[in-house]
Amino acid sequence: MSGGRIPVTLITGAAGEIGQALLQRLAGGPGDPIVTVDLRPLSTAGPGDRHREHCQGDILDSALWDGLLHRYRPTLIFHLAAILSTRAESVPVLAHRVNADGAARLLAMAAEFASPDEPIRFVFPSSIAVYGLPSQEAKDAAAAVSEDEHLDPATLYGAQKLYVERLGATIARLNDGLDFRAVRLPGLISADTLPQGGTSDWAPELIHAAARREPYSCFVSQGARLPFCAMPDAVEGVLRLAFCEKASLSRTAYNLGGHSLSAAEIIARVARDFPDLDVRFQLDRGRDRIVASWPGAVDDTAARRDFGFAPEHDEETLFSRYLIPGIRRRYQG
Ligand SMILES: NC(=O)c1ccc[n+]([C@@H]2O[C@H](COP(=O)([O-])OP(=O)(O)OC[C@H]3O[C@@H](n4cnc5c(N)ncnc54)[C@H](O)[C@@H]3O)[C@@H](O)[C@H]2O)c1
Repeated sequence: MSGGRIPVTLITGAAGEIGQALLQRLAGGPGDPIVTVDLRPLSTAGPGDRHREHCQGDILDSALWDGLLHRYRPTLIFHLAAILSTRAESVPVLAHRVNADGAARLLAMAAEFASPDEPIRFVFPSSIAVYGLPSQEAKDAAAAVSEDEHLDPATLYGAQKLYVERLGATIARLNDGLDFRAVRLPGLISADTLPQGGTSDWAPELIHAAARREPYSCFVSQGARLPFCAMPDAVEGVLRLAFCEKASLSRTAYNLGGHSLSAAEIIARVARDFPDLDVRFQLDRGRDRIVASWPGAVDDTAARRDFGFAPEHDEETLFSRYLIPGIRRRYQG
């Protein structure tokens, strides 16, 4: 029973890179009020009319959930709060608590409240970190990786993401009211924000450094290759998955594709617009090894077919229409 509680969309990790973009995109449109949770305050930019309350606190704090669930009834949950890949490896116990236990706890709460009459949809951003290619040679030889291949993560972060995907799918099978959907994101590049603590951060960092006319020390090798997607395309993909009819979905976890780019290719493309670009290579062997285990390209046929994932940007317009003008505006301003 809802007991007078207000139906809301809940976003955890809303102060993060994806959370801010998602909140901005959702909060100006129609729908239930939005409640956000994060350790940090939201950025100063007004989140929009639909935003009702920001709870600044820890997803591991049960008092936070007692207070929140007393007043609100989440109908749609975007569970974004996490410790990202590079940082997770250096704080393994905390990363397990946040990425695995925190998600498990929220899934259990959702399952407890969900019923066929009052269903809850739970959307979880997973990652290409769930994949683990055994060697650089295997990575170079692999075709675009599809969802059921190479599920042998090389990192704690990847194992935690895969665990939550499987836990969510299992709990949803056991509970009619819970609808769990996961999307495996590639590396994301935003013209507006800079990431922290991710293993794919070199790409956005070097593009932003070029616009600031600062030298950049790249922590992976020139040949390091990952799929990258523009932040607005990824957010659009997450929203399409979140709002599509359940009947059109054929699986619970989907790849979102990106443009397969090496560090050397990104540098060559950025140098066309910023010829003074000054990149040195200062290898971080740990991060380079993680990148070597992640696929250079993923197959997103299922996402395109089932929920119409259709990124606006191709490899050229990612730079020419989105990143370069957006980043120039950001730093000229
Ligand atoms: N950015 C990427 O390239 C990428 C790729 C694949 C998956 N993802 C996933 O997408 C989600 C969002 O990523 P992002 O890039 O916005 O990361 P981010 O680090 O910018 O945001 C994560 C947010 O979670 C919050 N958080 C962390 N621990 C918390 C806790 N205990 N309680 C409350 N809030 C907490 C942080 O304060 C932060 O604002 C994460 O789950 C991440 O694993 C991101």
